[in-house]
Amino acid sequence: MVNQKTILYLKKQSIKIIHDGQASSGAYIAGPTFTMYRFSWFRDGSFIADAMSRVGEIKSAEAFFDWAAKVVLSRRDRLKKGEILHARYTIEGNESNDEWPNFQLDGFGTFLWAIHCHGARHKRLLDRWNEAMNVIVEYLVAHWREPSHDWWEEYAAIHPSTLASIYGGLKSLNHPAAHKVQAAINLKNAKLDASLIVCATPFEAVSLKDFAPTLLDIEQRLVTPGGGVHRHQTDIYYGGGEWLLLTCFLGWHYVKLNRLKEARAKLERIVEHMDKNGWLPEQSSEYMLAPEYYEGWVKKWGPSARPLLWSHAMFLTLATELGI
Ligand code: BGC
Repeated sequence: MVNQKTILYLKKQSIKIIHDGQASSGAYIAGPTFTMYRFSWFRDGSFIADAMSRVGEIKSAEAFFDWAAKVVLSRRDRLKKGEILHARYTIEGNESNDEWPNFQLDGFGTFLWAIHCHGARHKRLLDRWNEAMNVIVEYLVAHWREPSHDWWEEYAAIHPSTLASIYGGLKSLNHPAAHKVQAAINLKNAKLDASLIVCATPFEAVSLKDFAPTLLDIEQRLVTPGGGVHRHQTDIYYGGGEWLLLTCFLGWHYVKLNRLKEARAKLERIVEHMDKNGWLPEQSSEYMLAPEYYEGWVKKWGPSARPLLWSHAMFLTLATELGI
């Protein structure tokens, strides 16, 4: 049993690490010490801003929304001509020059959802972001039927988790297209992936009851003996370990199911991975699916990302969901 003092320490550290990893532009750097992650992703950033909003760090969350709104608005004319928004930008708000796939729609849905939750939580007027939100809505309505890359940037398809994020964003604005997006979500034919959890929690595109068979699959095939969660069964990235942020998503889902002891156990699993700086990694190498690939990645890019702001953010989210 991890004691409460340690949990509170990690909470404090997580807020600090996120502040330290936020550029003066407002962008959250995904992995400040990991060269490949010195960018700001809409997906990571929106969940990070939501976590900061939850713990009362209003300025930090709003600085991210401001940065993201600027990125979107400065591309408005180009979007009209059919250009796409990228999944990640440099902290100055420019496109990055790497070979990673850029067309990923989920982060923009999550962004709308995060602003909405923030506004409702702190009774903040959303005027300042309205214009950018409208551009994003238009963009999502135009593109949601197109295959885009998944959370892990591995392959393009119509991913249920992407649709769920878009649904979550459009639904928070009561946009009529939300229901069409929801109706397109098909869990039965989906490749098993822990990111599917977002279909139920937090985006509520699928009811807790309808999500039960997928949850069972995740529990039986993606949860390690240590209690952490793999991305999918064929993961080889840094050997395919447990992704801390996914362990938190599962914990968050348990809160919604009122399985509070299990949710608490997930929070404790995260605390077990805190290092002496109070940092959380992207993934743990304790239970790898493909250990033979681990060294190759270390040779290529150095040790895997640590700290990862999104891991810290999801820890904060789960902690607040548990009333901590
Ligand atoms: C993950 C993405 C994430 C990015 C930055 C990638 O390895 O697959 O989901 O947005 O890292 O954290």
